Amino acid sequence: MERLDKIISNLGYGSRKDVKSFAKKGLIEVDGIIVKDNGMIVDPAKVSIKINGEEILYRKYIYMMMNKPDGVISATQDNRDQTVIDLLEVDHQAFEPFPVGRLDKDTVGLLLLTNDGELNHRLIAPKWHVDKVYYAKIDKKVDEKDIVTFKNGVTLDDGYKCLEANLEILSSSDDGAEIRLTIQEGKFHQVKRMFEAIGKQVVYLKREEFGGLLLDPELAEGEYRELTDDELSVLKSY
Ligand code: URA
Repeated sequence: MERLDKIISNLGYGSRKDVKSFAKKGLIEVDGIIVKDNGMIVDPAKVSIKINGEEILYRKYIYMMMNKPDGVISATQDNRDQTVIDLLEVDHQAFEPFPVGRLDKDTVGLLLLTNDGELNHRLIAPKWHVDKVYYAKIDKKVDEKDIVTFKNGVTLDDGYKCLEANLEILSSSDDGAEIRLTIQEGKFHQVKRMFEAIGKQVVYLKREEFGGLLLDPELAEGEYRELTDDELSVLKSY
C-alpha cells in the first residue's frame, strides 16, 4: 500500500507537486473513479490508475546496468564525491535504486543497480559464488606460476585464503601484463589485493561480467540502461 502521488511520481509521470495538480484538475482515476486526494493510499498492484485517461504501467522494481566511470563511487550518497546514483536520470532515481555490490572509485565497468533487495542479496551473498570477470592491466610480468597460485587460492594480507580463481594472461612482458580474472567472491579490493599478494600492482581495472551478464559494449563510461527481459532472466536464474 502506498500513497498515490508517490506511486505516480516514482513511475516517472511528474513530481509529487505535479501529481497534486493533476489530481486537483480531476485528471486522475483509480478504478474508474476520479480521485482528487493525491495522498490516497492504494495497492498499486491491485488497482487501475489512469492519468488523463491513460492507464499507467505499474512496476515496483527496476534493474539497470551501468558502465561505471573512474572517479565515481558505488554508493547511494556521499558528502564529497559523485555517486553512481547521481549519474541516473531523476525518473530512475525515483525508484530508489542502489548498486549491487561495490566497485572501487577507480574501477570502471559493469555495475548493476536495482531496488530489488532480494535479488541483490542473492547476487552478493558469498554462498552463491556468483562469477565476476575482470580485465586488468598489471605493472609487472604475469606468468604460469601466478595462474597456479590463483588456482590454488592466493592468501591475502589479512590471512584470508581466496577461493579458486581463473587467471588468463592476454599479454605479458617485462613492461607489464594484461589479464582476465574470474573470481566468485567480492572481498574489499579483492582483485588488487590478490595481485599485491604476489608482489604486483593492478594499474587499471574493469569489470566485464557479473553473474552471467556481460557489459554492453555500446555503453560508454558513465552511461547506463535498463536490463532487457532476457538479461534479467539470466541474472535471476543464475
Ligand atoms: N576488486 C578490486 O580490487 N576492486 C574492485 O573495484 C573490484 C574488485
